[in-house]
Amino acid sequence: MCGIVGFSGHHQAAPILLEGLSKLEYRGYDSAGLAVRDKDRMAEVVKSNGRLKVLAEMTDNGNALKGTTGIGHTRWATHGAPSKINAHPHVSGNCTNSGSGTVESEVVGVHNGIIENYQELKEKLIKKSYQFYSQTDTEVAVKLVDYYYKKYGIGPIDAIAKAMVRIRGSYALELMFQEYPDEIWVARKESPMIIGIANGESFIASDVPAILKHTRDVYYIDNLEFACVKPGEVHFYNLNGDEVKKETVRITWDAEAAEKGGFEHFMMKEIHEQPKAVKETLASVLKNGKIDLSSVGLSEEEIKKFSGITIVACGSAWHVGMVAQYVFEDLAGIPVRVELASEYRYRKPIFYENELVIVISQSGETADSLAALRLANENNVETLAIVNVVGSSIAREAKKVFYTLAGPEISVATTKAYSAQLICCYALATEFARIRQKIDAKYYKYLIEELESIPEKIDIIIKDKERIQWFASKQTNARDVFYIGRGIDYAIGLEGSLKLKEISYIHCEAYAAGELKHGTISLIEEGTLVIGILTQRSLYEKTLSNMLEVKSRGAYLASVTTYGNYNIEDTTNFNVYIPNIDEHFSASLAVIPLQLMGYYISLGKGLDVDKPRNLAKSVTVE
Ligand code: F6R
Repeated sequence: MCGIVGFSGHHQAAPILLEGLSKLEYRGYDSAGLAVRDKDRMAEVVKSNGRLKVLAEMTDNGNALKGTTGIGHTRWATHGAPSKINAHPHVSGNCTNSGSGTVESEVVGVHNGIIENYQELKEKLIKKSYQFYSQTDTEVAVKLVDYYYKKYGIGPIDAIAKAMVRIRGSYALELMFQEYPDEIWVARKESPMIIGIANGESFIASDVPAILKHTRDVYYIDNLEFACVKPGEVHFYNLNGDEVKKETVRITWDAEAAEKGGFEHFMMKEIHEQPKAVKETLASVLKNGKIDLSSVGLSEEEIKKFSGITIVACGSAWHVGMVAQYVFEDLAGIPVRVELASEYRYRKPIFYENELVIVISQSGETADSLAALRLANENNVETLAIVNVVGSSIAREAKKVFYTLAGPEISVATTKAYSAQLICCYALATEFARIRQKIDAKYYKYLIEELESIPEKIDIIIKDKERIQWFASKQTNARDVFYIGRGIDYAIGLEGSLKLKEISYIHCEAYAAGELKHGTISLIEEGTLVIGILTQRSLYEKTLSNMLEVKSRGAYLASVTTYGNYNIEDTTNFNVYIPNIDEHFSASLAVIPLQLMGYYISLGKGLDVDKPRNLAKSVTVE
């Protein structure tokens, strides 16, 4: 989704803004822009369609734009097509020349989010003689602030508060007023935004990596708050215009973790970081060979009392939920339903006594997951978030938090956050099983040892990546690919198929192997690649027969299965063997070859692995 940066200090702003935006490229965008000014000069706006490097070229890497205060934006189109005129910043005055140039306007601004009532506000402003040059909702917000600013004439505090009351939807807004030279005003509802101070200078960003190089101590601006950011100084206000005091939060990620570290792509780097992410996440709840959920805030009494679990999430995090359903039900004997957050939030779910709602999210900002969490909170059930980003909205609003310690995930296609989320679910399920007396001490000890063995086993699979690369290089022309499996293997297929389609643009579906005969098998043609996932002993023969059924209709077969199942070679053309592990935890290993498949096919097709088309890292609009 869109990225926001801002700077007010003593250095030239534009190079700092461009560098910050480059750290947010992973979020996905289609155009970019900057507005920079000095005390005695009006803001100059430069915008470009396409990649950030175009903007960098237009501005001589920022050196051609003079000024020590500025705002920057990468846009992921929602209202209005990707184009120079729709790119941010937008200005309150009239403008020609695709919106670039020195600005005569009072207000210039950028925005993340969606303003739901922008049409109604636009009509009101048109009646007040405002003219619009873009199709964006952002231009409406900027002009609305300008309207109140001029109407009441008592400064930005009043103008912004009035606009915030009037606007419906979500926003992280960054505004500069011509009459307030070194100030940037920011406002927030739903869309994330942080502010960091270092050495008498101030940095604003929608996401941590953009300012990590400058500071790790950041302020989180809350919903329906706004702030005035000056060099080395920030003042927060609530909607009444009263000043609000805040403490900084320390970000423990180091800046290096957000760099590629010698890998060609972030995705490959993050695939390699999975053993560490899993190990550290597990270590955070493992004390003397036992799982200790006190840091999550879960007591034994509560765990005994839960009558069921609802897991809510989007995309890959939902796939984690699909795996977790099998694990919780089988190990801990507790009923689990798994819900897509975008559906759950609108379908009036029935809440029940002693229900635990678990929301899983890497970013902690996914709009639908956040709305689902709020719905659960409003209905007074217990809520637990499994989140990667400290201080994110979901982390702050959930009653209990289990942090994944995956570090910053930059590649749009998730890998290490998915693996860390799985570990959280396994640790919860294992501890629930012990406390609810579904397993004995011996089995508990064995499960913990199995959990501890995961990082090393992931490493073994990654070391064999060249074989997968060889196979993947032959699949770049595939039109349709199918992953099939049963039980946990089906849930693993869901993630594998998303990895493939999102970065290689090959149509790929995951099917519960037993479902093929109910329709999908008609899609199998001569040479269609079908990959069976077979990690569950009791389901091995069943899935194998489904593989034979598609083979007899022309499918080209591959498999991911465990060491020892070598008889599969009688049926298939290519196999990846993964180390043996307790079957409840097999997703952590079987997903690795599928991530590598997606990566290498995308690479083979010459695609932008880390920034697939149309996608955004953090989906902060619904
Ligand atoms: C796919 C992917 C997405 C996310 C989904 C939820 O590789 O990364 O499907 O899993 O957008 O995002 P978070 O976890 O940030 O809520």
